[in-house]
Amino acid sequence: MKPKVLVSYKGDNFPEDVADKLRPLADVVRVSGDYSEQLKEATVLLAAGERVNDEFLAKAPKLKLVSRFGVGYDAVDVDACTRHKVYVCHTPDVLSDAVADLTWAFILGWMRHIPEADGYTRTEWGKRQKGFPFGWDIGGKTLGFLGLGRIGTEVAKRGRGFSVKMIYYDVVRRPDIEAQYGITYVTFEELLKTSDIITVHVPLIPSTKGILSTKQFQMMKRSALVVNTSRGPVIDQKALTEALKAKLIAGACLDVFEVEPIPLGEELLKMENVIVAPHMASATWETRRKMAERCAESIKAYLEGKRPPFTVPEQKNVTF
Ligand code: 8YV
Repeated sequence: MKPKVLVSYKGDNFPEDVADKLRPLADVVRVSGDYSEQLKEATVLLAAGERVNDEFLAKAPKLKLVSRFGVGYDAVDVDACTRHKVYVCHTPDVLSDAVADLTWAFILGWMRHIPEADGYTRTEWGKRQKGFPFGWDIGGKTLGFLGLGRIGTEVAKRGRGFSVKMIYYDVVRRPDIEAQYGITYVTFEELLKTSDIITVHVPLIPSTKGILSTKQFQMMKRSALVVNTSRGPVIDQKALTEALKAKLIAGACLDVFEVEPIPLGEELLKMENVIVAPHMASATWETRRKMAERCAESIKAYLEGKRPPFTVPEQKNVTF
């Protein structure tokens, strides 16, 4: 009997022809809803956002590989997987461009009021009654990076073209990237105090949960824009809502939220100084295909008896 690969993902994200590459080696089964019956027999799981922890693994006695469809793996308890001798793979690099592009689309969209301009042009302009408010130049502003990993670096690369002054704070200093893209390391406090735009590119780990909250918003410029394309819980969402209402900061662009989908009644969704998106930073046809191919590469290698590539850093030195 061939090993079972469960794909808990929609077809658009994991195209049929990519699944076909695995079919000579495995039974590829698409699952949704409660798939605990199929999980009992599964060797590999291509995971959407499900929480993979001890409890989950107890229901998957034959599981050997969890392939996270994405770069972030905060939903996967890697220690638990390592204890159960389950590899955890993810999709680094292939989505950095798409996320950096959306980050800049947010910045430009907010600074030039694109969402409002669209509505105004469709319904108001022709009436010749109301004018449209000016936006702000990007050039000359200070763009502050909270986190300068793979995605932050791609955002910085694009920043050179916009002539912004770039500063960053991260727990790891990157002199190579500082030199390559003209970005300066500063303390967290200086980043908060001097940035016109703060863009967040940290993973969700215990030390980054709620890293931006009331105290940090109070330190920011009243004109500051906060952009988050990383993970919702790195920002205390209630504190952000209050900061926006109290005009401690000027606006926010958010692709990610504490709870997803964000409940329709949330106050943030009614605010004009906020641009929101449905966790779509990696959602381009090209990028989602590359992510699927990267997952398939790890799964195929494992099924062929090799150590899978693209395991998460915590499993860099382990072989089961
Ligand atoms: C999602 C992401 O994985 O890469 C990540 O960590 O957050 C995204 O690419 C994607 O939306 C699929 O759920």
